[in-house]
Amino acid sequence: MSAKTVDDLLSEGVSGRTVLVRSDLNVPLKDGKVTDDGRIRASLPVLEKLAGAGARVIVAAHLGRPKGAFDPQYSLEPVAWRLSQLISAPVKGIDSREPLAGEAARAAVVELAEGEIFMLENIRFDPRETSKDDAARAEFAGELAALTGENGAYVNDAFGAVHRKHASVYDVAAKLPSYQGDLVAAELKVLQRLTESPQRPYTVVLGGSKVSDKIAVIENLIPKADTLIIGGGMVFTLAKAIMGYPIGKSLVETDLLDAPSVTGLVELAQKHGTKLVFPTDIVMAASFAADAEHQVRPVDDLESGTYGAQALGLDIGPESAALFAAEIAASKTVFWNGPMGVFEMEPFAKGTEAVARALTETSGFTVVGGGDSAAAVRTLGFDETAFGHISTGGGASLEYLEGKNLPGIEALGA
Ligand code: 3PG
Repeated sequence: MSAKTVDDLLSEGVSGRTVLVRSDLNVPLKDGKVTDDGRIRASLPVLEKLAGAGARVIVAAHLGRPKGAFDPQYSLEPVAWRLSQLISAPVKGIDSREPLAGEAARAAVVELAEGEIFMLENIRFDPRETSKDDAARAEFAGELAALTGENGAYVNDAFGAVHRKHASVYDVAAKLPSYQGDLVAAELKVLQRLTESPQRPYTVVLGGSKVSDKIAVIENLIPKADTLIIGGGMVFTLAKAIMGYPIGKSLVETDLLDAPSVTGLVELAQKHGTKLVFPTDIVMAASFAADAEHQVRPVDDLESGTYGAQALGLDIGPESAALFAAEIAASKTVFWNGPMGVFEMEPFAKGTEAVARALTETSGFTVVGGGDSAAAVRTLGFDETAFGHISTGGGASLEYLEGKNLPGIEALGA
């Protein structure tokens, strides 16, 4: 059975109805301002479609990982502000400290005119949103659904959150007639192309800082890809665990150094005939700062530089960047998730930049997956159209590629 779409909802008629839309507006902020509005822009079409058709629209979204209570640093206010600048419909909201789906919200929704948008505060300010207790989540979902009143509907357009079994992503679909958002549909179409019939060679490039976040992904993608390139901060835990290399003060997850899932990676890749590509050189810095002195060292000799065992690795080196770029150039399909270094600091952005550039130059089909990598591409000034697809989902796209069930998709009956 395939899920109903927003166009199905429009043909059923939305004028005068209230539609709850779950969007992924989890964007980076600095000094109270949105620094990359990619996810907000990606969410506009569905919101505009519904508001344009006369629906009263309630937007539910999260920002970061607050601890189930109001916390000003995670307020969606700057996001609502940016949304109101970008969208051609009025955006309203209520005082951040009010309960999310409480009396004030109910009253505000009743006041909403057709074609207006009401943005709830960070949905994770309510502890029931992410609760492991099914009953607690269902209760919150019921309150969210009740906000839509008579004849309400629910649209899930939050592709980046579909891997979360959360009240506004999963449980609410059981409470209202539910529809798949256009962004979710578009993302699934691209990812299907990667899982069902990728043109080969198929290369996966994984970066990011934590092995613990990525080890299951690495294990699951090894049998699927022809080449797996690994960069980013997680290289150091792997280099120490697998090769026994000294890594100075670089990021390390000591509890994983003896984990069979980590130490057995090379063997696993050999078993599946998958080429595993590690960096051969690293940019080692004297400290974690944008103006820190730094020098390039071979990966098997990271402590031999001027800063000795005090050095920390903040990017892949130029030789690795060239090696990775050559692998990408020889591929017909490339999926990339996770930066190669601390790209937010200019001297340590070159590895990430080289990978991004290689993706734009290859004639193969390229997909950038993830909030961080997508933000990196835009921050570094690349033309977004030079990539095959820039996904709004990080964890979500990885879990899809791993073949896992995505609760947000499942709940829509897809
Ligand atoms: C993301 O940034 O990948 C999504 O918005 C999901 O956020 P989460 O990992 O905090 O659930």
